Amino acid sequence: MSEYVILREEDGKTHIIRLVDKAIKHKGLGVFNPKLTLGSCGVGDEVLVGQKYLTIMPTRLPELISSMARRAQTISSKDAGFLITKLGVGPGDTVLEAGLGSGGLSLHLARVLGSSGHLITAEPRTEHSKIGLLNLERASKCFFEFPKHTHFDSIVEDIEGEDRYDAIILDMPEHSSAIHSSVPFLKFGGRLACYAPTSSQLENCWKSCSDAGLKIDWAGEVIDREWGIASKGGMRPINGPIGHTAFLLIAQKR
Ligand SMILES: C[S@@+](CC[C@H](N)C(=O)[O-])C[C@H]1O[C@@H](n2cnc3c(N)ncnc32)[C@H](O)[C@@H]1O
Repeated sequence: MSEYVILREEDGKTHIIRLVDKAIKHKGLGVFNPKLTLGSCGVGDEVLVGQKYLTIMPTRLPELISSMARRAQTISSKDAGFLITKLGVGPGDTVLEAGLGSGGLSLHLARVLGSSGHLITAEPRTEHSKIGLLNLERASKCFFEFPKHTHFDSIVEDIEGEDRYDAIILDMPEHSSAIHSSVPFLKFGGRLACYAPTSSQLENCWKSCSDAGLKIDWAGEVIDREWGIASKGGMRPINGPIGHTAFLLIAQKR
């Protein structure tokens, strides 16, 4: 078993636990010694921790996402998957990501970059990077392959772009100066993505990317509409609103 174990409660709530050999308080589970309680168990086993029966899950990306530590708002899987596909990110790529925040997007990027990729992150707020780096450290122990990771405790504008990037992803309140400072280090044919919660941010991203010499590939929103089994049979969209996360913009250096 890896250094980490993911436990799932019956209602789907997950917990990531480090297999240390001492009694520690775990939020929602109480005090227990992980090594003694879980050390001889395997994936799929059911264990009793305190009053709860829990299932040991594989340490895969969806389980890491659902059990990750959180502080800054994260990019969800629907947007992360779209960004990765539209940017064409894969093994061997060098990707610049800012801000790191809680590392939600970074976990998706690390999974697809593999050990031949390089993830470069920037985050000026250490109370955010503390969480993001913890999530990445856990993922590095759980994934079969993990990229080289370089982190800067600074705004992305201050990074000396010694590497040439295959892709850049910017998730921050104000994108313009980050676009202008990072585009010179984007490879020809490489793409830059902006994650912009409001339409005015999206418009600014469009203008800044155009001013920086990029061609807009795509701008818009990914809508996620879940379906379920209806009580009288058949399938239909589940009740509830279709929520908004952010607008996305993809631009290319041509
Ligand atoms: C919403 S969070 C990012 C969340 C992250 N994408 C995730 O999925 O977990 C936005 C972050 O951008 C950081 N930020 C703001 N301006 C920045 C800049 N110029 N350079 C780098 N990071 C910046 C903020 O401190 C904040 O932590």
